[in-house]
Amino acid sequence: MNNFTFQNPVKLIFGKGTIAKLATEIPADKKIMITFGGGSVKKNGVYDQVVAALKGHNFIEFWGIEPNPKIETLRKAIEQGKAEKVDFLLAVGGGSVLDGTKLIAAGIPYDGDAWDLVLGKAPVKASIPFADVMTLPATGSEMNSGAVISNLATKEKFAFYNTFPKFSILDPQTTFSLPPFQVACGIADTFVHVIEQYLTAAGISPLMDRWAEGIMQTLIEVAPKVRENQHDYDQMSNYMLCATMALNGFIAMGVPQDWATHMIGHEITALHGTTHGQTLVIVLPALMDVMREQKKSKILQFGERVFGVREGSEEERIDRTIHATEEFFRSLGLATRLHEIGAGQETIDEIVRRFNERGTRLGEQENITGDVARKILERCK
Ligand code: NZQ
Ligand code: ZN
Repeated sequence: MNNFTFQNPVKLIFGKGTIAKLATEIPADKKIMITFGGGSVKKNGVYDQVVAALKGHNFIEFWGIEPNPKIETLRKAIEQGKAEKVDFLLAVGGGSVLDGTKLIAAGIPYDGDAWDLVLGKAPVKASIPFADVMTLPATGSEMNSGAVISNLATKEKFAFYNTFPKFSILDPQTTFSLPPFQVACGIADTFVHVIEQYLTAAGISPLMDRWAEGIMQTLIEVAPKVRENQHDYDQMSNYMLCATMALNGFIAMGVPQDWATHMIGHEITALHGTTHGQTLVIVLPALMDVMREQKKSKILQFGERVFGVREGSEEERIDRTIHATEEFFRSLGLATRLHEIGAGQETIDEIVRRFNERGTRLGEQENITGDVARKILERCK
């Protein structure tokens, strides 16, 4: 097991009616900027609950943080936050609103252009405190310090790290209004977060393995129920907690990780605007196939414990496990091939070009280069 330091300070406030707790969770003397996406919160009543809870607080609103939040939009929020001397941020929406808010929080005390912070040209030295009301279970952003920011002008998409949210409010009732496609992508994103902290080599940490397998088994169990009835509070709660637990560091202690599927997926989104979870389920089965030798012990364990694949030779079991993974994604109603989302050879060539230019080396053994990425992408054409 690798050495590690674990600290996760996020106060998680979970359950029915918890948005009302905003009234006491944010100090009364703060100048708050509430950040929103495109308006879903006005239709599902979340906005009204937030405003009611913050009655008597001093706040301004910033609207229009889009899916895959764009630096171009966030620069405007940072400018406004500076001018209005905002000293607390509250993100209300999905992972994009929260991720964008993480950059706004770091951008307000920073003198230069916030894109420097995303590129790592300048370190994040200060951040104003931020919190969230999360309405889409997927990213785990409510309990981690990461954020993924896109650049419209350069068609790039990169992750950066700030501090953690002060608190996160998760009321599963807010998810009842999600479009089914976003639910499918959220389940897929959660599943792939878990598998990218798991699918390396067997025998390193039985505890991390079983936690990870437990989340994936839970997702497979709740997915059809959630898709059948999005108003089932208990099932939506299970799904929501899976998303949080998938990317808050709990299943990453002391184990190697492989974020290649995410890194390739981000490029697909940057080039095509494809929804994040959708990109991942195209890449993952292909990556499992191309990396089957290196990941053999873990694919076999995954197949047996998560999908009950026990019959046949090792190679047959690996094939069946990859097939079962792809079938699970298809059962969510998602595409698992590039051509289904309108991406082709040009996209593959551009991603490989970018990886080669950047000297990208992904995976737990840092051996997924541009050339290996090509094999993966050719496999899921
Ligand atoms: O903008 P509004 O009108 O609010 O609508 C949103 C948006 O159109 C809608 N939505 C959200 N909650 C809703 C709802 N509609 C109805 N009812 C609700 N309760 O859903 C659409 C998508 O929202 P978005 O925030 O983009 O989705 P998600 O939460 O999946 O976030 C995706 C972004 O997070 C990044 C992705 O790369 C992508 O940019 N990620 C962030 C991570 C992190 N911070 O740790 C890790 C992930 O791997 C991921 O990369
Ligand atoms: Zn993700």
